[in-house]
Amino acid sequence: MRIKGNIAIDGPAGAGKSTVAKLIAQRLGYVYVDTGAMYRALTWKALERGISPQDEEGLLCLLRKIDYRQEFNPDGSIRVYWGDKDITRLIRGEKVTENVSTVAQHPRVRQALVGLQREMARTDRVVMDGRDIGTNVLPDAPYKFFLTASLEERAKRRYLELLSQGEKVTLEEVKRDIARRDERDSQRPVAPLKPAADAVIVDTTHMNPEEVVDFMLEKIKERSLKARD
Ligand code: DC
Repeated sequence: MRIKGNIAIDGPAGAGKSTVAKLIAQRLGYVYVDTGAMYRALTWKALERGISPQDEEGLLCLLRKIDYRQEFNPDGSIRVYWGDKDITRLIRGEKVTENVSTVAQHPRVRQALVGLQREMARTDRVVMDGRDIGTNVLPDAPYKFFLTASLEERAKRRYLELLSQGEKVTLEEVKRDIARRDERDSQRPVAPLKPAADAVIVDTTHMNPEEVVDFMLEKIKERSLKARD
């Protein structure tokens, strides 16, 4: 399928955004950009330097020297670097996960990261996932999706993923963390988590990733044909 334009995917934690975004990017020859990884990388750096996630000035200082890179590989994997250091696994740690939505609440931190995200979308054709891509980062993207699933299902998926990575967590802990982040991400005054008016909403609770991808590709095809009329 030959299509033009970027693809925006938003939704709460554990809705399956990154899994399907990677598959769609592979199928269409696009670059996958994980914007959550950027907020996580900054959170990781702040914790490493002893800067509080509440300290917007301290975070902005780090951002001035940000040396961040994402690599999307043909096998569908993504690697994240700060300078030469591979931080792919480090940014998924418990401490980072606990603090990332506090870091993501600061307006000027968001402004700086959104600038980088728009730059990435200018240089490549991207499938970008996050919380505010369709509403704020790429409001003109021709293809927008908002993925949701029940809290139970999202917690279960995240729990199984963490277990497979050898993390020691309980389902209850994961559920509590996701509920807390949902609350913070959707209540914050700046660019809260919410669907764009023109986004296609996909409830993935009873769907596997292939079904979600097929459904989304079908929608992309429909919209691209309509745009040509
Ligand atoms: O997608 P994730 O769980 O890796 O995202 C981590 C956090 O980053 C999430 O709790 C909210 C924040 N985030 C955001 O505010 N805006 C984005 N575009 C992406 C993530």
